[in-house]
Amino acid sequence: MGIRITPSVLNADLADLNAEIARVPDSDAIHLDVMDNRFVPNLTFGLPVVERVRAGTEKMLDIHLMIAEADRWAPGYAEAGAESVTFHIEASDAPIRLARQLRSLGARASMGLRPATPIEPYEDLLGELDMVLLMTVEPGFGGQSFLDMVLPKIQRTRALLDKHGGDIWLQVDGGVSPETIERCAEAGADTFVAGSAVYKADDPDAMVRTLRALAEGAAHH
Ligand code: DX5
Ligand code: ZN
Repeated sequence: MGIRITPSVLNADLADLNAEIARVPDSDAIHLDVMDNRFVPNLTFGLPVVERVRAGTEKMLDIHLMIAEADRWAPGYAEAGAESVTFHIEASDAPIRLARQLRSLGARASMGLRPATPIEPYEDLLGELDMVLLMTVEPGFGGQSFLDMVLPKIQRTRALLDKHGGDIWLQVDGGVSPETIERCAEAGADTFVAGSAVYKADDPDAMVRTLRALAEGAAHH
């Protein structure tokens, strides 16, 4: 199982995203948090900013849409050249159509779940997906404490993914740090968002390597 570290720039310098991305060359992708002050009580940036970031980097872009009306807005991010687009299941009326549309536009299709949203009702959707994102904090802000109560859901999601087969990534997002990443990896996550842990470190790229080593060490147990 591959391990991927995907730093979030939410708490980095949002006015100079391409420079912030250049600080983490060892990352596997960059996680961009789009918020609309409707799905979450916070506002970040939208498609024009992502298009500018795309023009300035070859890095894989992992877009996390914390927005209402995902069906309407998500395809634009795939059209802009993002390699992965996560919509929240709580914000999609037609997730099957949306996932197919994202894939047809050349992006990986990913479904995000808030901490209180169960995975079981969506088992039949797994064949339409390339990644499942489990929020390990309430979405909206960086720097919050990891919610241990999500660990059983990570385990249950891993079991469903293994049963389904294929290569669907399992991403965790929120409060991931050197203190919590091993728990997530043991539970079955393989793709890790880390915002403040990476960008508040003295050496962000060294922190990416540290997080990967910890996750790789824990994933085999
Ligand atoms: C929160 C965002 C996260 C956030 C994570 O709603 O989805 O991606 O940037 O930040 P940390 O790692 O600081 O919890
Ligand atoms: Zn995120």
